[in-house]
Amino acid sequence: MPKLTIIYGTGSRNTERMAQAIEEGAKAQGIETILINVSCADKIELVDAQAIAIGSPNYRDLMMPTVQKFLNELSSLDLSGKIGLAFGSYGWGLEAIQAINEQLASYGVEMMPVLAIKRIPEEEGLEICRTAGFSLALKIKNIK
Ligand SMILES: Cc1cc2nc3c(=O)[nH]c(=O)nc-3n(C[C@H](O)[C@H](O)[C@H](O)COP(=O)(O)O)c2cc1C
Repeated sequence: MPKLTIIYGTGSRNTERMAQAIEEGAKAQGIETILINVSCADKIELVDAQAIAIGSPNYRDLMMPTVQKFLNELSSLDLSGKIGLAFGSYGWGLEAIQAINEQLASYGVEMMPVLAIKRIPEEEGLEICRTAGFSLALKIKNIK
């Protein structure tokens, strides 16, 4: 079964809510999903996933240091051919989400458009996250 691994950092749970909604959307496509806070994550979880979603809030124009450390560790894996999604909550700038997007792309991951929600994701924002998870899952289901 196709698999999506979602790894996220969060300070006040906004990005966590996004991650959960991405998972809900993907599950609606019947694929396997794993959702892990970066503080408990191991890069091994990405090896057998066809899609990876990595999220971080924007703090001081940067992604969380725990997410940055995890992303740096991924350089030792072959991620080429996987489908990726960078996501996160922000206050006024997209630097963290764009940096995740660029780093994953540099590893050969085929990136979907970035998914950014301002502050607390309300129902409309959560639905956007579900749709992104749904689309990501659909994309990997169609890979032969
Ligand atoms: C100390 C601090 C620094 C922040 N710095 C930024 C920033 O540089 N750019 C930005 O867009 N938002 C910034 N924010 C806003 C957060 O990105 C925003 O509150 C986000 O929803 C937090 O997501 P989380 O609940 O997943 O931690 C900052 C918030 C705090 C508390």
